[in-house]
Formats: sequence, C-alpha cells, structure tokens
Amino acid sequence: MGAVKEDVGGMAWNAVLQARGEEREKRIAELVSAMSLEDKIREMSGTTSPFKQLYMLLHYNKFPFLAGGNRRLGIPPIRFTDGPRGVALGNSTCFPVSMARGASWDRELEERIGEAMGLEARAQGADFFGGVCINLPRHPGWGRAQETFGEDPFLLGEMGAAMVRGLQKHVMACVKHYACNSIEESRFFVDVRVDERTLREVYLPHFKRCVEEGATAVMSAYNRVNGDYCAHSRHLLRDILKGEWGFRGLVMSDFLWGTRDTVKAALGGLDIEMPVRIHFGRRLKKAVINGKVPESLIDEAVTRILRAKAAFAAPAHPFLYTRDRVACAEHAALALESARRSMVLLKNEGGLLPLQRSSLRSLAVIGRLADVPNIGDKGSSRVRPPYVITPLQGIREAAGSVEVVYDDGSDPGRAAATAGKCDAVVVVVGFTGREEGESIPYMKGVGGDREDLSLRAEDVSLIACVAEANRRCVVAVEAGSAFLTSGWKEKVAAILVAWYPGMEGGRALAEILFGEVNPSGKLPVTFPEENGQLPPFDKRARSVEYGYYHGYRLFDREGMEPAFAFGFGLSYTSFDYSGLRLSAGELRAGDTLVVEAEVSNGGGRAGEEVAQLYVSSPGMEIDRPQKELKGFARVRLEPGETKTVSFTLKAEDLAYYHAESSCWRIEEGEYRVFVGPSSRAGDLSLVASFTIAR
Ligand code: BGC
Repeated sequence: MGAVKEDVGGMAWNAVLQARGEEREKRIAELVSAMSLEDKIREMSGTTSPFKQLYMLLHYNKFPFLAGGNRRLGIPPIRFTDGPRGVALGNSTCFPVSMARGASWDRELEERIGEAMGLEARAQGADFFGGVCINLPRHPGWGRAQETFGEDPFLLGEMGAAMVRGLQKHVMACVKHYACNSIEESRFFVDVRVDERTLREVYLPHFKRCVEEGATAVMSAYNRVNGDYCAHSRHLLRDILKGEWGFRGLVMSDFLWGTRDTVKAALGGLDIEMPVRIHFGRRLKKAVINGKVPESLIDEAVTRILRAKAAFAAPAHPFLYTRDRVACAEHAALALESARRSMVLLKNEGGLLPLQRSSLRSLAVIGRLADVPNIGDKGSSRVRPPYVITPLQGIREAAGSVEVVYDDGSDPGRAAATAGKCDAVVVVVGFTGREEGESIPYMKGVGGDREDLSLRAEDVSLIACVAEANRRCVVAVEAGSAFLTSGWKEKVAAILVAWYPGMEGGRALAEILFGEVNPSGKLPVTFPEENGQLPPFDKRARSVEYGYYHGYRLFDREGMEPAFAFGFGLSYTSFDYSGLRLSAGELRAGDTLVVEAEVSNGGGRAGEEVAQLYVSSPGMEIDRPQKELKGFARVRLEPGETKTVSFTLKAEDLAYYHAESSCWRIEEGEYRVFVGPSSRAGDLSLVASFTIAR
C-alpha cells in the first residue's frame, strides 16, 4: 500500500468529485486504498495552524477550524464554524436563540433560517456548520438550554431536521451533542446513567430524526453515558448511530477534552478528533501498527470523511456566496420574522395588550436590560451581528406620538415614581450570558447552569415596586429557557417571554406590544410553579440518573400543575377547535393514520395558531406517559376564518422500546388522540380513539 503520488492523488480526488452514486463510492474506495496510513490518519483530526489557534484564544471562532485536508492529494480540509443562533464568523445575522425558534413551532421558517445560516457560513469560508444543537434539557436550568429547541423529543427532532434541511443546501450540518448532554458545569466528567428504554425513547429520537433527514455529521458529547465517554461509546456510535440507524456520515468529537483515549475512541467509532491532533495523530498510527486498532476502521472513518467532503465540495450555486449576503437586509428580515413568531404571551389581564397608541400619552420603559444588546450566551455559540435593536430602541421607533420615558431600574423607588406618572409601563428583566450559558473552564462568573429558576432578586423587587405604582404593567423577560413567575405574576397585568430575540428582537417586541404583530409563540418547555417540581439538578454531579420522566410528562405523572404548560401561549385573538376525525378506527403495523381537525379564528383580528397533537395509551401494560406530542401545525387565520389542520401518524410512531428483547414494539389496544392549543388537559377537549390490532 504505497503513498499516492502528487499528480495521481489530485486526479484521484477529481475522479471522486466527478463521479456520482455508486460510482463515487468506488472512486472513494480506490483513493482510500491508495492512501498511506499517515495520509489517512491526517484526515481524522483538526489541522488548524498553531498561529490561528493562539489567535482564537483572544477571539474564538474568528476563523473556521480546519480538519484534515491534504494539498498533495488535492483533498480540501473541512472548514468548521459554530452556531446555532447564527454563524459565529464575522458579523453574521443574529437570529433568536434556538429555544425561541422552538417556541415558534415553525418548521418552514426554521428551514429558511438554516438556509440563510448555511449561505452566510459559506460566504465566509466555512463549509461545515457545527450548530445544530438538539440536546434535550432534562432540567430547564441547563446553561445551554437556549441552544436547543425545547424539552420534547418530537419538537426537537422536527425543528432540528428543518434546520438540517436548510443548512445542507449550502454546507454540511453537524448535529450535537450526542448524547445526554444537559448539565453544563460538569459536562467534562459527568456520567449520565440511563436505562436503555429511556435512552431510546427520550434522549435519542431527535438525533435519529436528523440522521434520517440526511445530516452529514454528528458531534459526540463531552459527558459519559453509562460509564463511557460519548466519543468512545461503541454502543452509541457504532451500534446505534452507524449500525441501527445506518448513518453514513462522520462523527466528530466535541472540542477540548472531547476525546480522551486513542484506542477507545477509534474502536468506539469516532472519525475526527477536534480541534487539534492529540489522540488521533502519531498515537493512532502507533495503535494501528501495534494491532490495537484495525486499519479497516481507519479506512471506514476516512471513507465517511471523504464522502462528506465530496458531497459538499462543489456548491450548486457558487456565485451566491458573496460577502454582501452576510447580515443582508433579507436575512435581517428573517431574523425579525423569527423574533415575531417566537415571543410567548403568558398573561394578558384585562386585555392590556396590545397597547393602544390613541389612548396612551406616555409609556415608561424600565429595567437594566431595556437598553442593552442581549442576544444570549458568549461561549462557542456567540454571534457578533452588525447591530442589535434593544427593546428601548424598538419601542421608541414604534411609539409614534406616545412619549417614552426610560429608567434603568437601578433605583426601584425612582423607577416606581416614573412608572406612576406614565399611562402604562414595560419592565424588561431576565438573564444574560453571565447567568446562563456555556461554562468555560477557569472563567468564573460566566455562563453555567441555573439550579434555581428564579429571576434575580433585584428583578423581582423592581417588578413589585413598579407594578405597585402602576398596575398597567407589562413584564418582558429575556431568558434562554424557563424561569419562575411565582411571587410576581399576580402583581402584573401582562407577561411576555422575549427569549434572547436576536438582532431584530427589540423591533419585534415593540410590534407585539403595540399590536402590529399578534403574538403566536408557544412554550417549548414547561414553566414550573416552583423549583421542587423539576427533576433533581446538581450541576456538580459526577454521576446522575436520567429517569424516564421529565418536562410535561413528569408533571402529568405526578399530577402537578405547572405555572405555564408546555405548548401554552396566548394570542390577541381567540381560536376554537372542532371536528376532530381520524381516517381509520383501527391500525396495524405499517399503517398510517390521518388526523384532522378544524381551527377557527373566533376573535376580531388575524392571528397564527400552533395546533398540537398528543397521543395517550391508557390501559396498556407497559408504563407510558399520559400523553406525548406527536404532531403540530402552524396556521394563519383571518378573523372568522376556519382551516383544517392535518397530521399523519404511523403505527410505528407509537412504539415503545422493549429493552429485554432490544427491539421496538407496538402494543395492541386502544390509543387516544388529542388535538388542541397546548398540553394543558383543559385545552385538549377534542379527543378520539383508535385501536392497534395485530
Ligand atoms: C462546544 C461545542 C462547540 C465546540 C466548538 C465546545 O466547547 O461544546 O458545542 O461546537 O466547542 O466551538
């Protein structure tokens, strides 16, 4: 097996690029078999120059991280960049964080956002986007919950798949962090103990969904699962991902300390060590020569890597990737559209919102976050947009003849006096990258987890003082996930979850406050009444048990009332549900059921509604959640208009994992379908049944 000579090598790679389908596979196999062991192993790790690495200590993500690549052979490196709220390079468009986009429950919008990010990544020299984060936050206080789409595997899978579809029109999409990564501060060492059924039904389905959508890459998580580091886990990588799911893409490690051991990682199924060569350089070569790692596994990894590179080597529209597309007006408009659809109205007593300019002379805008660009975490997901519209800026621009009086809230007495003199008040509070986000070693006071979901004490007392002075008080909260409202929600008239709304967020917030936009976001996480309702969360845990129940499933099981349920969100109009019907009363394995219902806009203004479909299986032998989300549909309705929402359900979607026999089973018997505006029992009055028969 000799080294490929320069000219032959370049030709071999060109031959790969020119071939398609099976022919390309053959060309890749020929190239791999002609490559030297060194050449092959070089493909399997980060290759960013030491100078750039040093520079990136000062400005992380300044350049794409490189992996592999071989000039002599003409093989390009992978050029990695991060997300997910935009592209981490340059001054890219900053979209609302993923949790906000999860609250939009809008697949079509998410696909367009993915497409815009893919275009901006490529225009700035990257061809690999490492920002499809779909981890399930078992506890909403996970510091990086803002990077993911919500607590439910179905929602996560659908939104992740939409993002993958959009991104892969331009770049390779990498889905992360596989698997069970949902405690930030112990991410480098925590061992997540999880039984096979819980793993398969709760923590993996969304990864499978993205793999089915054709995601090119999967990033292994830092943490361990059942004793093995994820980058070494033969069970996760070889058995499930590459074996059962038939994944043909590549597995990349998470960065610093994501790979711990040469032989374990290579045997386990890791294809690329990032961001630099520590375990997969000389050590891997030695392990192959010593017979500890079969060379066939190296060949397999390189085949996957070359396959991925070849698929994205020649973009369909190379002329598209010009720098002027980065943060262009069209993408800014998309960021605005996303922010509009993601904000969730939790309370609107007496119809305080929308504010009527005609009956308002003055509006107080209060709070330390009212006039700061607050777009989320400052870790690896940081995006540096060209501008950020703050809430105050947005409100000022939209206020028209209404006088806007601003107070930063540092003195609650003064703020209350200001609020008292105005006709209404908007208080902007919440978190920043200081209180939640990625946890970076040796950097204290930045990011990390929120074991306690309460707002900061200053925020709670500011709300109390201001609301006491003016009951026409709207609280807008900027946050990456759930927070507690107990102790203050009764005092205020309206609550709006703004999330970290991206660079156009302030404008969207103002449009919702003044009624140009009708709010339509729905909570992608359960908002508890108190911390004690959630699964235990120890951010320093060395080992933790992930049980079967979390989120709304746990609330249902324990009969607990949340403050605001999963899927909940108000509108300025009202929607009615009727006419639930099923295409069949009985289903067998392989069959598909169509579920339809009518949604009508019974109010006086146009609006968008997210109809949700839940399934339950009462009376089954096996313990199952009282209900599980299995479908959702976003519809726009003019006043008085009615539309049909339609969902398809396969019998296989109802399967559970039978751990003893290592397979999925569909239990026969009666199932119930619920369609409605949220997961709250009272909201799910449309019910129908069907049976699964042998
Ligand atoms: C994060 C990943 C990220 C990587 C590269 C890691 O610390 O966990 O999500 O993609 O850095 O920036």
